[in-house]
Amino acid sequence: MSQTKRVGIIGLGKYLPEKVLTNKDFEKMVETSDQWITERTGIKERRIARPDEATSDMALAAAKQALAAAQLTGADIDLIVVATISPDTYFPSNACRLQGALGCRSIPAFDVSAACSGYIYALTVAENFIKAGTAKRALVVAVEKLSMVTDYTDRNTCVLFGDGAGAAVLSTVETGGILSSYLGTDGKQCELITLPAGGSRRPATHETIDQRLHYLKMNGAEVFKVAVKTMADAALEVMNTLGVHSPDEVSLIIPHQANIRIINAVAKRMGVSLTEGKVFLNIDKYGNMSAASTAVALCEAVEQGRVKKGDRVVMVAFGSGLTVGALFIELS
Ligand code: ACO
Repeated sequence: MSQTKRVGIIGLGKYLPEKVLTNKDFEKMVETSDQWITERTGIKERRIARPDEATSDMALAAAKQALAAAQLTGADIDLIVVATISPDTYFPSNACRLQGALGCRSIPAFDVSAACSGYIYALTVAENFIKAGTAKRALVVAVEKLSMVTDYTDRNTCVLFGDGAGAAVLSTVETGGILSSYLGTDGKQCELITLPAGGSRRPATHETIDQRLHYLKMNGAEVFKVAVKTMADAALEVMNTLGVHSPDEVSLIIPHQANIRIINAVAKRMGVSLTEGKVFLNIDKYGNMSAASTAVALCEAVEQGRVKKGDRVVMVAFGSGLTVGALFIELS
């Protein structure tokens, strides 16, 4: 009788651009203050990619680190899934660019668009390819250059976002692995976070550029409310499915890093206090990097020794779509 395969993470990597944009820098750009940004969001600084640095460059750097950690090369990979809403170009996909740059064989390579939940979506897709036997080893990269769609004249949104990339190599494992996952969508709320122009609905014209419609628009207050409930419900779902009903049975919670007040409220609903050190935070350094946030956070949690083999991690994210995703992982 065939046993269900365990699929786990065998290598992690990350890349953050060198340039740091601090809250003090924003005081010179828009009507804001370090105090407002820190208190309302938890962000102190964020990384910004160079003008000549595209998402595929950042993805390649993170991917190389993850492959090295897994002691593999591009030739060993059977599948590439890239989570991004800021690819180099609409087409070809960033995954195709990565496949070429890494010298992989002819393998399936495609992008997933799920905004801030993208890393969790992409990991789940790769997990299922491996479980189905379609791939043995998969490379998943989450990468964003949100600075390219950020309106640096709009104080409501410009202070929130940053650039970066995180990567993971997945394979079958003997112990641990992805134990449960949850993916959801509420498409009726599409307009709460959107990039209005540049697609087939409103192709680029001089008018759309003059109206600044190629920048991200967000109803922050509404998103805030939905984010708290949806993220907490998704995190509890992946725990309860496994019969885990207490956060004491989880080593670390890695939430999407959008706003410290959202993270605090989600943790509270899960019965955890931020002071316990059970919730991973790096929002102060990087802001919201959309799909790359949870990817960089997981990589840093392992690098910093916050979690090790055998530890149980709940990752949860929420973003434009509206999408939501959560994973329960026992580190392999
Ligand atoms: N500096 C100073 N004042 C500001 C700033 C700023 N940077 N930004 C907004 N304000 C002002 C507003 O203009 C408003 O002033 P008013 O009362 O005179 O009109 C006041 O602060 C309060 O505005 P709110 O929007 O109510 O502020 P809030 O406390 O809700 O914080 C924020 C705004 C940070 C955007 C918050 O709502 C939030 O984090 N929302 C969730 C965002 C999110 O999670 N996005 C995830 C998805 S992103 C993706 O998918 C790519």
